[in-house]
Amino acid sequence: MSKDQIDIAKLPKHIAVIMDGNGRWAKAQGMMRVFGHSSGVKSVREVSEGCAELGVEYLTLYAFSTENWNRPQVEVNALMTLLVKTIKKETATLMKNDIKLDAIGDRSMLPKECLEELNEAIETTRNNSRMTLILALSYSSKWDIVNATRKIAQMAKEGDIEPEEIGEELINKTLTTHKYPHPELMIRTSGELRISNFLLWELAYSELYFTDVLWPDFRKKDLYEAILEYQNRERRFGKTSEQISELKSK
Ligand code: FPP
Repeated sequence: MSKDQIDIAKLPKHIAVIMDGNGRWAKAQGMMRVFGHSSGVKSVREVSEGCAELGVEYLTLYAFSTENWNRPQVEVNALMTLLVKTIKKETATLMKNDIKLDAIGDRSMLPKECLEELNEAIETTRNNSRMTLILALSYSSKWDIVNATRKIAQMAKEGDIEPEEIGEELINKTLTTHKYPHPELMIRTSGELRISNFLLWELAYSELYFTDVLWPDFRKKDLYEAILEYQNRERRFGKTSEQISELKSK
């Protein structure tokens, strides 16, 4: 599988990834789960670089879910430390590659040091324009939808909107993902076939790609494989195959 097989004209603008299998990868080698997470950083680098080289405009990585706060405290602490260290260490690479960093999720839950490092990297990279790397941190889609619903209810209560004005557009605008187009492709590693509270609204029409590869083993060639499979699928958005062919021939 090589990069040349990919049709650049049909590239997804936005790819979202559930990076799964770090714990199992480490366990298979008789190592602590945390070793799996630190080894997963290389895959983060590979996928970010791979996407930027191809011309993908947005890459969202599910780095820490709201539910992950319930993991053993040592693992949560290790993950937070890893995030701080990685963000700090990789900011120069983001600058060199013209990549902008952003985050979605409940930042108020993050430890102070992690939040400061994250905000600093977001600020430093804010004028970069080749690709946007979005970290889903302390994120869950239900959290985002609940929050957006509260904001909209408040607007209605204050008389700023009428209930009839509540539609897809307003909901899109109120979610923390509002700045980005919805992902056309979602990749999940490690053989699990679930969405796990990730971008439930935004993935409505995305192509879902599941691979058995564990996240620390995920390399550029695996990314290319996922994109190629995406390009071979027919995206119908509720229409029939015939309607799609007709549209294409116009
Ligand atoms: C899921 O594997 C992975 C995570 C919860 C963490 C992913 C985080 C990283 C790879 C660090 C990334 C750093 C940055 C800056 C984005 P799991 O622990 O659920 O694995 P398992 O299912 O095998 O137990």
